Amino acid sequence: MNATQFKKLKGSKRIIMLTCYDYSFASALEEAGVDALLVGDSLGNVIQGRETTLPVTLDDIIYHTEMVKRGAPNTFVVADMPFLSYQISIEEAIKNCGQVMKETNCDAVKLEGGEEVTHLVRRLTEIGIPVMGHIGVTPQSAKLMGYGKRGKDVSDAEYLKRSAKALYEAGAFSLVLENMASSLAKEITELVEMPTIGIGAGPECDGQVLVLYDFIGLTKDRPPFAKAYLDLRGEIKAAVARYRNDVEQGKL
Ligand code: KIV
Repeated sequence: MNATQFKKLKGSKRIIMLTCYDYSFASALEEAGVDALLVGDSLGNVIQGRETTLPVTLDDIIYHTEMVKRGAPNTFVVADMPFLSYQISIEEAIKNCGQVMKETNCDAVKLEGGEEVTHLVRRLTEIGIPVMGHIGVTPQSAKLMGYGKRGKDVSDAEYLKRSAKALYEAGAFSLVLENMASSLAKEITELVEMPTIGIGAGPECDGQVLVLYDFIGLTKDRPPFAKAYLDLRGEIKAAVARYRNDVEQGKL
């Protein structure tokens, strides 16, 4: 599937997306039939144990995306561009996004930001790099804006709607909506002819994304909106207890 085909999924199916960071999970998730994988800069939190996503580097994203695409060669894989890899200048953004596309075989990149990044989205799209936008809570701006729900006051809600429209007009093929009221996400979803992918934005988006380690119940503190479909942390503890028992009783 290419990005134009992904864009056309709007209205035809609800899109299932998960983040992913390595070969083995990618291969299992492809077998399970997810529609798309995002190599999120959330790897800074869940893989590297950092407080924010800010320290994640371009090399980190390339390293993980390359493994994910190898594990899921037939799945649509999006690489998340890390902090300062696209904000400095259009030239740097093109160079860095291009490097990610060249070295990882991914299908698209994702950039955080609203109407202020439309010039980048337009230029990247013009040269053939598909861009997924990301508005609402944008963790790369957490030091400025925090992680609280976005769009609570009229001017922020207007900014988010304007941004969604501007990103669509600039050529984005899809848009992540993070942590906003479902009524606002619904309005935005109706405003643009590209799939919206929600996380903490209610059920009215065209698809949903979850951070993989929240989804499998491995993270210690997941956000309230992130539903865990497994209790892997609990399962690991129980498995280690069984293993300890076997070792102590000389069964292995
Ligand atoms: O980095 C990430 O995992 C993300 C998702 C939360 C959308 O951007």
